[in-house]
Amino acid sequence: MGARVLLVGMGAREHAVAWKLTQSPDVEEVFVAPGNAGTAQIATNVPIDPKDIDSLIEAANDLKIDFYLATMDDPQPLGLVDRLRERGLPCYGPTAAAAQIEASKAWSKQFMVDHGITTAIHRTFRDHNDAVAYVESLPDAPIVVKASGLAAGKGALVCDDREGALLALDTIMIKRAFGTAGDQVVIEERLQGWETSTHAICDGETAVLTPSATDYKRALTGDRGLNTGGMGAYSPSIDVTTALSKAIEQEVVKPTIEGMAALGSPFNGTLYPGLMITDRGNYVLEYNARLGDPEAQVLMARLNSDLFTICRAAAEGGLSSVDISWSKEPAVGVVIASGGYPREYTTGHLIDGLDKIDEDVQVFHAGTALTPKGVVTNGGRVLTVVARGPTLAAARAKAYENAQFIRFEGAYMRSDIAEIEEIR
Ligand code: AMP
Ligand code: GLY
Repeated sequence: MGARVLLVGMGAREHAVAWKLTQSPDVEEVFVAPGNAGTAQIATNVPIDPKDIDSLIEAANDLKIDFYLATMDDPQPLGLVDRLRERGLPCYGPTAAAAQIEASKAWSKQFMVDHGITTAIHRTFRDHNDAVAYVESLPDAPIVVKASGLAAGKGALVCDDREGALLALDTIMIKRAFGTAGDQVVIEERLQGWETSTHAICDGETAVLTPSATDYKRALTGDRGLNTGGMGAYSPSIDVTTALSKAIEQEVVKPTIEGMAALGSPFNGTLYPGLMITDRGNYVLEYNARLGDPEAQVLMARLNSDLFTICRAAAEGGLSSVDISWSKEPAVGVVIASGGYPREYTTGHLIDGLDKIDEDVQVFHAGTALTPKGVVTNGGRVLTVVARGPTLAAARAKAYENAQFIRFEGAYMRSDIAEIEEIR
């Protein structure tokens, strides 16, 4: 009998992971809480909110779940892994203590300082007056103010000057724009450089880097518009050389894993640090303790090995004994979003063209719902169309050719995902 695996989330990332898991001969059934119209086609959706840990535990029990694979950020700081492990359930994902590395920027900054991991100079505050006094004592220069807690990727306010930083403190600590995530703030120097990120599969002791992947955060073509969860991705990244990847492994991933183990909170799960590469060195901006979305969609498309075997080995501390192989073919993922995202948008629009997609192209659902009239839009990011090809250009062409088939009112996609003009 194969395993019954639980995922929590409703994005294209969860659909991609579910898709990969269903290819494993050792997986009997995948359950996704709450899932979307795409996961419903290959797995069983369980209508539970990702933050409702009590109901997730109950469902794991009722559904006879054998394994939990963490993909999204919300449940782990609330102790889902701790409570499932208490019940003897193997989990790939961090405990609440280890998940602090993402859930508290104040904590993770101190962790980096303590473990010699390069990060921007910073101070942490709980009191608004103290934070204001500190900003006023600084030279009138660019500065970054961050809500310490989870703020759906929106909690970092990059400011040009002191006045902007004071405004940011007001937004976070007085207006409470990010709720309790703003109980504490991190104030740090603004770095100059270019950004990249890394994903590492971790078993508490061993960390194995995945191939590189680049996401496109801005809403509009040409890197314009607001920041979003990610409008597309490709892998491998053109600007991440083997030397840079090795440096990140040695300077960031390895000391992080060793540091967490030394603290008695070994990190199990996917570690996904975001970095700024500068003339002064490779700086960690933040850690995520999960898979990126849409990076997961292109990484899953390139993974040749059995995802369940890898995650089960990692859950048991045996990652060093598994081989992880990736396709040499690049993958490109194009997100199709609702017009207006990440601001206001409408939902409930019928999605056409899903039946026209090439067999070797994947359409991973995010904000979709199944209704009697068919699959309709139900969120900001609606679908990710993912294609592989012998070259990046071929993968890109295939992804866009197929994305054109998909129609719904207000559909929007960037036209420049994986359009590589210059090599850094
Ligand atoms: P974070 O949530 O900490 O990754 O920050 C979100 C975004 O804010 C990053 O992807 C950067 O674009 C920007 N950012 C964060 N910290 C800094 C910094 N110290 N200097 C410059 N930009 C930053
Ligand atoms: N792709 C950005 C994120 O998942 O945070």
